[in-house]
Amino acid sequence: MSTTTLAAPRKETARFPPGPPPNLLRSLFGALQQNPLDYFTEIFHKYGDVVGMRIGNFRTFVIYHPNDIEEMLVNKARMYHKGRILQANKFLFGEGLLTSEGDFWLRQRRLSQPAFHRDRVASYATVMGEYTGQMLSGWHAGDERDLHQEMMNLALRIVGKTLFDSDVTSDAREVGETLDILLKIAANFGRTVLIPLWVPTPRNLRAKAGVRRLDRIIYRIIAQRRASGNDTGDLLSTLLQVRDTDGSRMSDKQLRDESITLFLAGHETTASTLSWTFWLLAQNPAVEKRFHEELHGVLGGRTPTMDDLPKLPYLGHILTESLRLYPPAWGIARLAEEEHEIAGYSVFPSYGMATAQWVVHRDPRWFDAPLEFRPERWERGLAKQLPRFAYFPFGGGPRQCIGNTFALMEASVVLATIGQKFRFQLAPGQKVEPFASITMRPKSGIRVRLEGL
Ligand code: HEM
Repeated sequence: MSTTTLAAPRKETARFPPGPPPNLLRSLFGALQQNPLDYFTEIFHKYGDVVGMRIGNFRTFVIYHPNDIEEMLVNKARMYHKGRILQANKFLFGEGLLTSEGDFWLRQRRLSQPAFHRDRVASYATVMGEYTGQMLSGWHAGDERDLHQEMMNLALRIVGKTLFDSDVTSDAREVGETLDILLKIAANFGRTVLIPLWVPTPRNLRAKAGVRRLDRIIYRIIAQRRASGNDTGDLLSTLLQVRDTDGSRMSDKQLRDESITLFLAGHETTASTLSWTFWLLAQNPAVEKRFHEELHGVLGGRTPTMDDLPKLPYLGHILTESLRLYPPAWGIARLAEEEHEIAGYSVFPSYGMATAQWVVHRDPRWFDAPLEFRPERWERGLAKQLPRFAYFPFGGGPRQCIGNTFALMEASVVLATIGQKFRFQLAPGQKVEPFASITMRPKSGIRVRLEGL
């Protein structure tokens, strides 16, 4: 008895940061749900660097200052688990790298790491270039296409081939459609957290059917690889061979969880980066011109390799700037497991902690003219002058994106390969706007007309 009465009053009297008035219904059906990007921007402008949100029984801090973000992601990382939304999406990701915790996560991370080493990623560049070339062989000047759909198909094929040595061309459509359904479901933050998956709502039934469709594809790939027994040096080979201390191998379920995580984490994000980048280029002819000139001067029509990338600094700045303005991972959330302090406030177990790259990357304290697309801003060492967490498209600390080098390599190779052959004219009259679910992508695609170079 005495221990609970000692702990409880401290919690009750602890200062909670100012924030929007608690209102469960408004949170579930209002601005937080309809347009989270605007909502997180508004509460930052209204309440500042630390905002306290109460939704029903849930209390969450939203932090926007780079130093506090560093506390959450690096210095106090072990005091947190992944946030409620990712946890609620375990029905999809299972216990893969993105969602698992503790020693289990650490082991899986160590096992997967070799597939993402620099040298290995450099070897994937060939596949990335080849697959882009194959896509381009079906493209003709004057064609009208949905750029985002094209980038999604391409990125899915690249992840399938490089990490699983599997050609998923025939599955690309089904995976794309299923992912579309699942991400829309996941975007419904309130319902995802409050209505458990076992409740047979139409939404939950659709989610389960979607997962079954993806599972069929993934289990088929695993079975094919187990049967062939080939070690092709890709990630799936490594995971298939690895043995635990007791000699046991990874179960099909664990292989499925890791594979689905990498398929989803690894293709949607990179595809969105490419779509946003081409969209930004199409609206900024001066940047686009310099981009084409650099490609022409350095590559002269060749497909780039990893060694070419340092010779394409402007391409690098374009990507950096695109990831600043349109970070596909637009926010990061955690759930406190231990009592501690952040920004002078007490944080208790079960408090949520969240930040939004979407807002921090557009903060005028760190970036001049923050809403403008200016790759040049990165030319004179801006990255070194910024606080560490003023720019963090790949997160940071122990849970930093494992695929960051892979993603930058892929985005660079695809940009440079397409950028030597085509430019895009945006179809008139369309409204291109971001849709924020777990990731952020163009809501209704990007319609373009191809122009040959
Ligand atoms: C532009 C592309 C990408 C962006 C912006 C991005 C962003 C991120 C971010 C912000 C996190 C940290 C999430 C958190 O702290 O809660 C993350 C984690 C992760 N990403 Fe990426 N990612 C990208 C591409 C990729 C690719 C290509 C792969 C794999 C092929 C990948 C696999 C993962 C995995 C497995 C994790 C979980 C790592 C862990 O917790 O150990 N990502 N990503």
